[in-house]
Amino acid sequence: MSEIHRASTTAPVNIAVIKYWGKRDPKLNLPTNSSLSVTLSQADLRTHTTASCSSSYPSSDSLLLNGSPQDVSGARTQACFRELRALRKKIEEQDGSLPRLSEMPLKIVSENNFPTAAGLASSAAGFAALVRAIANLYELPASPTELSRIARQGSGSACRSLFGGYVGWDQGSAADGSDSMAFEVAPAEHWPNMRAVILVVSAAKKGVSSTAGMQTTVATSSLFAARASETVPKRMQEMQKAIKEKDFETFAKVTMMDSNSFHATCLDTYPPIFYLNDVSRAAIKVVESINVAAGKIIAAYTFDAGPNAVVYYLEEKEKEVAGLFKAALGDKEGWSGKRGDAIQANSEGLEKAK
Ligand code: ADP
Ligand code: DP6
Ligand code: CO
Repeated sequence: MSEIHRASTTAPVNIAVIKYWGKRDPKLNLPTNSSLSVTLSQADLRTHTTASCSSSYPSSDSLLLNGSPQDVSGARTQACFRELRALRKKIEEQDGSLPRLSEMPLKIVSENNFPTAAGLASSAAGFAALVRAIANLYELPASPTELSRIARQGSGSACRSLFGGYVGWDQGSAADGSDSMAFEVAPAEHWPNMRAVILVVSAAKKGVSSTAGMQTTVATSSLFAARASETVPKRMQEMQKAIKEKDFETFAKVTMMDSNSFHATCLDTYPPIFYLNDVSRAAIKVVESINVAAGKIIAAYTFDAGPNAVVYYLEEKEKEVAGLFKAALGDKEGWSGKRGDAIQANSEGLEKAK
């Protein structure tokens, strides 16, 4: 029996405040606009992934997700495997004494501790963990920036989960995607009192995957072009400034408006895509009433491609925001498995997690 080589890692979820929606190159996962997110603490939502390889494994690569075998023949997973193998091969060629891991079949075993494919960024944490686990297994000297470029090819949003804190993804302009990767806007410690409460409206798999949904939007929505070329570039500047200055009201307003703009392009898609439902809209109303009661913006909702709400607020407003939210919606039908916990912005970043 030959040796089994193994490495594990965990990766955090990131929730965008300026949304990525649309690809200019679906093969390389190159976006039509830049985006920006907050990485959440791995103490709450995380993917745990173990990568192993051995010459004794059956000849094809495999991926087990939450106990179910997945198809790894798709171009996205293949691109990640291929790029990581190529980097390993390079160091094997430089040092002949290293085991030839690049030639062995890979076995990936991954678990999400939160709903998969429900609009809570499972593909982001999932592909960030997959790439990092294999990079650890191969003992690659790759930086988070380099790994973010590889993770992007698995799922666009995954590139942002390679960093902690406040993270941008530069859309880039190169045809080969070499300049389309994540960058740090600010570390979590810069604005450490940021909190998020996540309300799981439904843990069910979404009807339209992010990949399919954004393709249809690009092809059919007339609102989309203005969003990508005018609205988002302006908001990227505003948002980075708001984060640098710790200006919560601007951060919150831009977050809510960008979520609304993204869901408007979904409705403007043909056939229309409805990610929000009545409970999501009730959550928007609760946030609005919290802000009216406070006399200023102290809470911001945002929704990814699914009905589940993420509400950002500052720790000192815990009672007014998370408390009220739970009181207003806690017992209402439709809130299955809600998470009322305050989730901190992740201060570690994936690079330190092993
Ligand atoms: P989400 O809103 O959860 O990101 P997506 O439609 O973007 O939903 O992506 C869901 C898909 O991401 C899953 O069907 C699966 O193919 C992939 N995925 C999710 N978690 C993992 C994981 N831990 N490892 C590998 N792939 C994953
Ligand atoms: C609404 O990264 O899941 O969450 O690149 O096709 O895998 P693929 O899509 P994905 O899209 C995420 C869309 C979003 C917004 C965001 O996270 O920026
Ligand atoms: Co996703």
